[in-house]
Amino acid sequence: MNKKNNYYFESADTVKLAEKYGTPLYILSEDIIMKNINNLKRVFINKYKNVQVLYASKAFMSIAMAQIIKREDLGIDVVSGGELYTAIQAEFNPDKIYFHGNNKTFEEIEMAIDYGVGTIVVDNLNELDMIIGIVTAKNIKQKILIRLSPGLTEIDTHEYIITGQRDTKFGFQIDQHLKSSVIAKILNEDSLILSGFHYHIGSQLFDNESYLKAFKIIFELVEWLLSNHDYAIDTLNIGGGFGIPYEEGIKPLDIGKVLEEIMVEIERSFSNIPMDRPRIIIEPGRWIVGPAGITVYKIGSIKTIEHLRTYAAIDGGMSDNIRPSLYGAVYSADVANKYNQAKDHFYTIAGKACESGDILLKDIKLPVLDSGDYLVVHSTGAYNFSMASNYNRMLIPAVVLVKDGKDQVIVKRQTYQDIIGRDIKLMEEK
Ligand SMILES: Cc1ncc(COP(=O)(O)O)c(C=O)c1O
Repeated sequence: MNKKNNYYFESADTVKLAEKYGTPLYILSEDIIMKNINNLKRVFINKYKNVQVLYASKAFMSIAMAQIIKREDLGIDVVSGGELYTAIQAEFNPDKIYFHGNNKTFEEIEMAIDYGVGTIVVDNLNELDMIIGIVTAKNIKQKILIRLSPGLTEIDTHEYIITGQRDTKFGFQIDQHLKSSVIAKILNEDSLILSGFHYHIGSQLFDNESYLKAFKIIFELVEWLLSNHDYAIDTLNIGGGFGIPYEEGIKPLDIGKVLEEIMVEIERSFSNIPMDRPRIIIEPGRWIVGPAGITVYKIGSIKTIEHLRTYAAIDGGMSDNIRPSLYGAVYSADVANKYNQAKDHFYTIAGKACESGDILLKDIKLPVLDSGDYLVVHSTGAYNFSMASNYNRMLIPAVVLVKDGKDQVIVKRQTYQDIIGRDIKLMEEK
């Protein structure tokens, strides 16, 4: 293979990495992660007082990723015992951990409280009672945010990743019950510190319309709490959801502009009421890590159905990238070892899972493919590895972090031994 024809991701030769580590292979660029984090520092953290960025670890989580987030002094959003445990292994500052989730178990809540997690984002009454029980028994206090559903009617993204509508499994509805019993209960509970509210509208959002609408609804509740309970919240977490372009030619979101318009509305609103503007938190996941990742596959079988299509199968698919099957997500791709060749042939890239729905890319234009070629799929940093599965007992690929031309494995490739590692043979018949 002629190196000049190879696709370089940042300064890493993707063909060389594929040959070194095998395929399928997730490659994550630390430089791009840093570029996105520094951008957020420039347009948000260093621009406004009393604001914070949490990394939504559900997008991509590993110990090394938690270490990068810790090093950059961001907070982290975890939604399960597994994400929390990973953050603990990275010795993440507990005070900067926000524990989310719509159905936290007693064990998970206890683990979070024992680790001293700074804030628990309460999603429902069941959790509230468990938290009160645990912290009372330990004679400690716990800071909480109340997760709310703004009840928006129109949110422009895929149905499966909308969370801010009324009919949602997430959060408390803003209604009489919340005002008369839930909030009253929390304010009367010595072991709890009501820090404020949280809402997350949805993911892959490209304008701030929904953010502004949601804020106005939540702001009314902030005003209500102030005038009815003389209680001023100190934190408002407005969620994540900032979209990224997956297809060529789609304009990236101007996050500075979106955040500025939201902050102008927030500052204006709080300047009209007798309380300090609370700390404003955003919790992006995809926007930080999505563009920083690619996946390299090896092309195997190629078959043409006359006058219909040519399938080219890869050595991965829905088990390492579920999003095309689950959401109909579209990606762009290139051939890593034929990067400079004209893209003048249509292919449908089929995953190797035993599932007709395992089609990664449909009718994409690529150079003529040969078995053994390397296919690079772009912008796979978010919700790929974190949603990977062992369907068909496929091995979960390795994750390699690249920086300044250097490469390091940050998640080892699964082995067949890993796959059977938890299997237990049938007991011998006596
Ligand atoms: C509560 C919450 N916060 C943040 C996020 C991150 O979203 P995104 O990766 O789109 O920024 C999600 C994603 O589902 C979420 O549920």
